[in-house]
Amino acid sequence: MFRFSIISLTLSSLLLHATPLSQEEAIAKGNQVSAALLQKLGGEVKAQMQTNGVMGALHYCTQSALPLTDSIAQETGTTIKRVSLRNRNPINEANKGEKIILEKWEKSVKNKEPLPAYEIEKLSKGGFNYYKPILLNNEACLKCHGDIQGSPLAEAIKTSYPNDKAMGYKMGDLRGMVVITLPKEH
Ligand code: HEC
Repeated sequence: MFRFSIISLTLSSLLLHATPLSQEEAIAKGNQVSAALLQKLGGEVKAQMQTNGVMGALHYCTQSALPLTDSIAQETGTTIKRVSLRNRNPINEANKGEKIILEKWEKSVKNKEPLPAYEIEKLSKGGFNYYKPILLNNEACLKCHGDIQGSPLAEAIKTSYPNDKAMGYKMGDLRGMVVITLPKEH
């Protein structure tokens, strides 16, 4: 009995003890979290389009894209952003370092070179940043990000986002990227 409790104590302290996150683990987690986010967001927008039309989907994006992103971040112990050089939501504007990556990828798209599936950066304060390109690779995206200037939908978008820069995209364009910050321990 005594021995058993020592073993279980040792086991539980081992399990509770945080271990450093390796680069391989950061990449695996980045892949997993970004896929979950894009799948969930894409699925919700598609479902909204089917049941409530494009205006319903717009309402969903406006109201729920950020809260959904934050809830996945919370569940996975990460922080998640979707950023763009031509952002719609002012919160999603790329910062200086993010702009450098997006501009590099934009050049690759222009030169018809393949984009990396992700980039990983070790942070000086510990942990990693994981970056994943978001390509405009679905016709449905064009309904709200294509050449829709002047349409009633574009007007509705402008009402919520007066400084919108996210129209006029074409299929295959780089729309932005997912940035996931992974803590140094897990
Ligand atoms: C029904 C309209 C609608 C559709 C369809 C749509 N979006 Fe958006 N998108 C929005 C709105 C509104 C925002 C701003 C709200 C937010 O997400 O923060 C946005 C924001 C984004 C952002 C974050 C950067 C920014 O500009 O703020 C990305 C990336 C993005 N959309 C990509 C896509 C992709 C890829 C598709 C197709 C799979 C798509 N969107 C389809 C309306 C739409």
